[in-house]
Amino acid sequence: MARQFSGIKPTGEMHVGNYVGAVGRWVDQQDDGIFCVVDLHAMTMPYDPADLRSETVRLATLLLASGLDPQRCTLFVQSHVPVVAELTWILNCVATVGELRRMTQFKEKGDGQESVSAGLLDYPVLMAADILLYDTDEVPVGEDQTQHVELTRDVATRFNHRFGDTLVVPKATVPPVGARIKDLQNPTAKMSKSLESPQGTILVLDEPKAITKKVKSAVTDSDTEVRYDVEAKPGVSNLLALLSVATGTPVPDLETEYATSGYGTFKGAVADALVEYLRPTRERYAELAADPAELARFLAVGAARAEAIASATMDRVRTAVGLLATR
Ligand code: AMP
Ligand code: TRP
Repeated sequence: MARQFSGIKPTGEMHVGNYVGAVGRWVDQQDDGIFCVVDLHAMTMPYDPADLRSETVRLATLLLASGLDPQRCTLFVQSHVPVVAELTWILNCVATVGELRRMTQFKEKGDGQESVSAGLLDYPVLMAADILLYDTDEVPVGEDQTQHVELTRDVATRFNHRFGDTLVVPKATVPPVGARIKDLQNPTAKMSKSLESPQGTILVLDEPKAITKKVKSAVTDSDTEVRYDVEAKPGVSNLLALLSVATGTPVPDLETEYATSGYGTFKGAVADALVEYLRPTRERYAELAADPAELARFLAVGAARAEAIASATMDRVRTAVGLLATR
């Protein structure tokens, strides 16, 4: 079976874009998958250490609440398997500064900053180390991460060419609908965790009333037709994608169903569907958050399982690159 690995950063609240693009699919195909709260990736921009700790716990709890089951998959915290930093160094000597500077996320996050950490540039190499450490075949992510997975492929291929066949070359998988969920207030920009647009971002833990209010005030267009056309009708298309994923109904069927209903009725249906889609996660979250010791036990088991896979890969890598064995 193809091995799945993916990660999510503990920065800001998980939103419906994360859920549709990534986490919901992890849950659906979780058997033998490896999923990771990537705390080391959350350190590239200025941050507060106490927040990093609490957000790591919060996000791991939310992943369990979303339906990841430690009996079926491996859930762990990235820094609990520290050899990922060793593999990052080794891959740093294979990746080039030129290819890292070309990454869209680096350009966006670094743009206009007076000073940029070396970690921000190196971020995709750490991500490549994550993926390659666990002999990953498939990386379920949203569209914004596909460029980083392409880089991972390039680095792994170059490594294998230089040092002999050592690393599994992975590929990204993105969902057919909802690979890039847009901000409800600004439907040409992706929904994101930054707090710039709270009304445009539906959080997984939002109360039903808040979800309904955000959907009802979503920006659409002056037309009345419910039709999927990302260029001409970005707002309506985004709502159609959300409704499709939340109900499991293909977009063309929804276009037919809501063709003449008007935007008010359509938005009402989207709001109701999202409330139901997110309800089980919100309800389980409260329960799980009450028992942090249980979470710590799950994460320890996850780290031990991840560590076993990682150490076998590192033995191969160290030998391939010419590091002297310790025993
Ligand atoms: P991050 O929160 O940046 O760690 O992202 C975690 C996962 O959510 C990654 O696979 C992203 O590609 C995915 N993701 C983030 N934002 C969106 C979005 N607006 N639409 C779809 N997927 C997203
Ligand atoms: N960079 C990813 C993001 O911002 C998170 C991530 C880190 C990741 N390591 C990964 C995703 C490995 C997939 C596989 O969303």
